[in-house]
Amino acid sequence: MKDRTTISELPQKAGEDVLLCGWVRQRRSSGAKLRFLQIRDGTGLVQVVVKKGNVEDDALEAAGHVPLESSVVIRGTVREDERQVGGVEITATSFHVLHAAVGEYPLGKKDHGTGFLMDNRHLWLRSSRPHAAMRLRAEIISACRDHLDDLGFVGVDAPIFNSAAAEGTATLFPVEYFGDKVYLSQTGQLHMEAAAQALGKVYCFGPTFRAEKSKTRRHLTEFWMLEPEMAFADLDEDMDVMESMIGHVVQRVLENCKTELETLGRDISKLETCVPPFPRISYDDALEELKGTDAEIPWGEDFGAPQEDAVSAKYDRPILVHRFPTKIKAFYMQRDPARPEVVLGCDMIAPEGYGEIIGGGERCPDIDYLLEQIEHEGLPQEAYEWYLDLRRYGACPSAGFGMGLERVVAWLGDLKHVREAAPFARTMARTYP
Ligand code: 4AD
Ligand code: MG
Repeated sequence: MKDRTTISELPQKAGEDVLLCGWVRQRRSSGAKLRFLQIRDGTGLVQVVVKKGNVEDDALEAAGHVPLESSVVIRGTVREDERQVGGVEITATSFHVLHAAVGEYPLGKKDHGTGFLMDNRHLWLRSSRPHAAMRLRAEIISACRDHLDDLGFVGVDAPIFNSAAAEGTATLFPVEYFGDKVYLSQTGQLHMEAAAQALGKVYCFGPTFRAEKSKTRRHLTEFWMLEPEMAFADLDEDMDVMESMIGHVVQRVLENCKTELETLGRDISKLETCVPPFPRISYDDALEELKGTDAEIPWGEDFGAPQEDAVSAKYDRPILVHRFPTKIKAFYMQRDPARPEVVLGCDMIAPEGYGEIIGGGERCPDIDYLLEQIEHEGLPQEAYEWYLDLRRYGACPSAGFGMGLERVVAWLGDLKHVREAAPFARTMARTYP
């Protein structure tokens, strides 16, 4: 079947005979002589007309009874037909059922609840919305990589098994490791700092894990994070890269994912305004804006969803909130020399209530302060000796950030929950299928 044609290629093959492999999505008959099948192959949908006289009689019979989601092999002629999706349909000259689906397909026409759909995620992926979301996700990944590659970043992979925490001990997943205890990576950042001192500008992109006991629509226990890191960069440069990367991603999605966005019902006008520059607001100013609203918080408290939503509500593009209180941020964050009570860190908050999509900032190059922080947080110093070495041999300012992929996919695809943004989402309550 090497000479098979994909459905996406059909519009260029009008008049030609093709071999098509796929699955039966819909089937209907018209009298005894005509069968209409809607076939999907992952690249698109096409109508196949199976007509008495064009195919063997047993093929006509099979096309009339083939269960939905059976796999099939079809030969036929591509005909232009403006009324059809993609502008073509296929007149079959042969129809062969490779595997007849066993019994009724579990995800038939009825409306199913999310729990049922998630239990059947391995099948649900075939439906139009998940299909569109996964293509959107793939485009976002390439757009990020292309942008960073163009800026001269080098892709470097971070390990998953680690001996210590980087983002607080409360969300660590322990793993038994040859009689020892190690942890699944919460972030690749610390290793990217090492890589940046070797290669200048680097990024990793891989799965990260948080034992988040939160059942919100923004939290997964396993999510993919893209993490650029730059030696000798400061917070402003860091924010420039966040901004240009997200600006690029939005443009690419608007250009290349029109069909997907339409399938997902995405209001494109709300993405078209997401053009840099993005507003940059300090934590202090954000708190001022929250005064008197339901989301008001005292200075020193971290943002939750209500604060993120309230602060971002009046903007038509992502915003950058910088200089959060030192005491609520990770141990490695560089303090603002002018105001040590805040750090040179920044979160990017997506519009339309999609919340924090990026967290990042400057790292502290000073070994004494880091040692103090490690002790203060009760972290085991020996596990950080390698990280401290980066401050012993050529310490330098460094800045970077982490973009949560599923949050960005959810935002751009207007998905209700991040679990729809992952092919097989892992949450507190789900590791199946
Ligand atoms: O803000 P976070 O925790 O930052 C870091 O891990 C840094 N070390 C990154 C860096 O500077 N290299 O996480 C970064 C992003 C968040 O903004 C969010 O988009 C996403 O990762 N994220 C999650 N996404 C889904 N589920 C969760 N439980 C997430 N936790 C963080
Ligand atoms: Mg964060």
